Amino acid sequence: MSALLAQNGGSPVRTTPFPRWPSSDDEEARAIAEVLASGEWGSTHGEVVATFEREFASYQQAAHCVCVCNGTLALAAALRAVGVGIGDEVVVPSYTFIASAAAATFVGAVPVFADLDPATYLLDPAAAAAALTPRTKAVMPVHIAGRPCDMTAFTDLGREHGLAIVEDAAQAHGAEWQGRRVGAIGTVGTFSFQTSKNMSAGEGGAVVTDNDELADHLYSLANVGRVSGGGWYQHERLGYNLRLTEFQAAILRVQLRRHPAQQAVRSANAALLTELLGKVEGVWVPDAVTSVTAHGWHLFVFRLPGIGGAESRDAFVRALAAEGIPCSGGYQGLHRNGALRAEIASITGRLGQPYPEPELPATDLLASDTVWLPQPVLLGTEEDIHDVATAIEKVLRHLD
Ligand SMILES: Cc1ncc(COP(=O)(O)O)c(C=O)c1O
Repeated sequence: MSALLAQNGGSPVRTTPFPRWPSSDDEEARAIAEVLASGEWGSTHGEVVATFEREFASYQQAAHCVCVCNGTLALAAALRAVGVGIGDEVVVPSYTFIASAAAATFVGAVPVFADLDPATYLLDPAAAAAALTPRTKAVMPVHIAGRPCDMTAFTDLGREHGLAIVEDAAQAHGAEWQGRRVGAIGTVGTFSFQTSKNMSAGEGGAVVTDNDELADHLYSLANVGRVSGGGWYQHERLGYNLRLTEFQAAILRVQLRRHPAQQAVRSANAALLTELLGKVEGVWVPDAVTSVTAHGWHLFVFRLPGIGGAESRDAFVRALAAEGIPCSGGYQGLHRNGALRAEIASITGRLGQPYPEPELPATDLLASDTVWLPQPVLLGTEEDIHDVATAIEKVLRHLD
């Protein structure tokens, strides 16, 4: 190993690329060609989306799945289906993708940020409970990195206060809390099939639920208000057109079949990396808990507690990338996003409601010292994982 950092002219730890993502082979090509030849390209006439919906519902152990065009609008549809509307409050984590909070504003509701549990990077059930007001209609646990939130605590919270629990499982295909796949543990849950996700069609999303009425409502929201089995111009609700194409579903059916084997590789590599980084001074990796019976491994996250703030962490990320390791500094807290703040101020201002301004010390701290490795890094060989650990150690040792 070169003593000099690659960014200072040393040789990088890695010169060969990590596995490409999304990955596909002849199976996807054949599936797309079949749809093309069938002439049934849209789900209103074809059967591929409906077939994938049944398969994905079964995979996530949910009674129903309604496919939609992306994970962002899946959230907006889920919130609307559970009755969240103008002026209602939705408790969300601040350490998440912007869609989790933006979706609430799309239905006229107010996202109220609550802090995360620094041990897990996930919405803290106690912080969520403390953020409830008489206006709260829903709570949104987000399974960041693919790690399930404490769904025992969130389902209890929902039951106790009569709230909908909307799981944002965009990053958590196949993940399990105490043996149960995420998505339909709460009232309703959403997924994304966008390019980076562990199951991808370039774009796409899904909403799952065990509730029959909610599933009917979601069908209408995705299909311009039509009812399942009803006429073409029978619009019994107001809905969007959120439909997935048959081409996307054809790809997703293949990706779904491959997912268990890929998850086994990601899990084994994540376990190895956790073990290797456990020996590197200055690195902290989230603890495993027995209730997480399957981790979705969309990201591998770790902290550099002594790094001294976001600027130094960003310097670390630049140096690690120069060593040939794909990485990023991850999210900034959404409570600091100007566009969201302006929208929340606009909604609360018009309704004469207070602007929710919580203190989020854990979010601010973790946003300043966290590093992410994207999931394709976990799809390689054991040797790849040793390179990742070597590079992290090298950069930490030489950064000064
Ligand atoms: C946590 C989370 N929620 C929602 C989304 C939105 O999904 P999409 O990009 O499919 O709209 C994403 C993904 O980008 C995400 O990571």
